[in-house]
Amino acid sequence: MSIEHLRFPCFLGRRAHLGVTGSVAAYKAIELLRLLKSAQIEVGVTLTGSARRFVGEASFQALGASTVDTELFASDDDPFAHLTPSRSAQALVIAPATADIIAKLACGIADDMLSTQALAFRGPIIIAPAMNPNMWTAPATQSNWRTLLDRGVIPAGPDAGLVACGDTGGGRLCPVEHIFAYVLRALSPKDLAGKNVLITLGPTREPWDAVRYLSNPSSGLMGACLAMSAWMRGANVHVVAGPTEFSFPPEVNVAHVQTAEEMHSAASDLFSASDIACCTAAVADFRPIPPEGGSTRKLKKREMNADDLVIRLQPNPDILRSLGATKHAGQRLIGFAAETENLLASAKLKLTEKHLDLIVANRVGVAGSGFASATNIVTVLDRTGRVEQWPELPKPEVAWRVWDLLPHL
Ligand code: C5P
Repeated sequence: MSIEHLRFPCFLGRRAHLGVTGSVAAYKAIELLRLLKSAQIEVGVTLTGSARRFVGEASFQALGASTVDTELFASDDDPFAHLTPSRSAQALVIAPATADIIAKLACGIADDMLSTQALAFRGPIIIAPAMNPNMWTAPATQSNWRTLLDRGVIPAGPDAGLVACGDTGGGRLCPVEHIFAYVLRALSPKDLAGKNVLITLGPTREPWDAVRYLSNPSSGLMGACLAMSAWMRGANVHVVAGPTEFSFPPEVNVAHVQTAEEMHSAASDLFSASDIACCTAAVADFRPIPPEGGSTRKLKKREMNADDLVIRLQPNPDILRSLGATKHAGQRLIGFAAETENLLASAKLKLTEKHLDLIVANRVGVAGSGFASATNIVTVLDRTGRVEQWPELPKPEVAWRVWDLLPHL
């Protein structure tokens, strides 16, 4: 699964503490550590006794954990190691979390290193349960879980599905990239708290017959980065996505669409309740007029004569323009402009014609920018006439900087 939309480069120097408990899913904590380290987050790790039956300290040390604690009284050098996370980490994540650690946290039991560290921890605590469905649905576990949620613990899952013992039901560890996203969110500023943000992203697919369509190579990465960073910074995010591969945590509401007309209808429905809308989708400007008898079946080669081999097009709605036409004073509207020539002049024209507050213009067809590229080279123009040219930046960083501009719009 792609995690390119989670590669935010702004967590250098931040610290998280990772607690691992005894579940078959413990091996996934190694991947979580790798993701956290790739975001330049410093990570201390604590393994419970039963976690060590599944995974070893050496794996976590080799992947760059700053410390790996196992026993409450193991260190002669530091008698206060049980307080280190509460003094130095800005988030505690327990993944996977067994019924046992959930019960201990609910009751305030501190009888090993992890439960003691957790009891002392005052920052955000993210818990990703993983256990057999009967253990998950047991009244004791459910009651303990509700206690933790009432105290403000951040739940990461669990999902439902097939678990390691062969049973199916609740209690499956949620995807590691979602747990990673929750940690990033816990470490992010909350300057978009309370804002409703709408993002359109990806290409649209315009059918010609039942199996053929017109589209473009947009990956949706820029929009996915904007959606994730808005969510991490506290916004309530709605995404209207054309066909793309990104996975979002369940709090990010995603409406999947295929065509421009479907995207238009979904975005229009959501816009009136949005404070900010950001249209990054590479919407097909035209859609084929299906040939006679062609919209519900595949047209056969042998049925077609040369005169039929012309695709006739009709215009699609311009979603951004129609949102701009109904925008009220408190709303902010952000557009993107991909151009091969006259970049600034065209972007300026779109800014005024579509009633935008900000437009992010990038040249397509050059290295390091545009469709399906990991980076973008953009110029941002706002409605007050301010123009900023940014260097080549990873798309997550472009997204982060766009939200930084919001108070100035
Ligand atoms: O006019 P142009 O297509 O270059 O404008 C690009 C901007 O308009 C992008 O923000 C894109 O998401 C949006 N757009 C749209 N609906 C269309 C065409 C473009 O929302 N049909």
